[in-house]
Amino acid sequence: MKKIIFIMAVAGITAFSCTPKTVPTANTQTATADNLAQGKTIYENSCGKCHDLPEPTKYDAQKWVGIMNWMAPKAKLTEEQHKLVYDYVISVKK
Ligand code: HEC
Repeated sequence: MKKIIFIMAVAGITAFSCTPKTVPTANTQTATADNLAQGKTIYENSCGKCHDLPEPTKYDAQKWVGIMNWMAPKAKLTEEQHKLVYDYVISVKK
């Protein structure tokens, strides 16, 4: 049963990011497709309030670290939400 869940998670990530390798994350944990979907929702709900929703592909993973450190407090994100949003934006491929 565990194995089935694992395969589903991997398949989900693949479908989401179009790459078979695991999605890079802010820490050592692997973002699941579910995490990315959550991150997207938080992003869309929290990050378009003060300005237009920025294009995730406009910045690279390194730039997003700085942007998220700057913007997460503005959007009043929790530590967990900060991470979910970061994992989502860097998972979006051009
Ligand atoms: C409370 C208001 C507020 C919220 C919420 C907010 N921002 Fe911002 N954001 C700003 C302000 C102010 C700037 C400064 C630049 C400007 O005025 O456009 C900015 C700038 C940015 C920039 C740089 C834009 C550029 O032209 O380089 C990015 C990227 C960004 N925000 C992303 C985000 C993300 C991602 C979130 C959600 C986590 C977020 N913002 C939530 C107020 C906010």
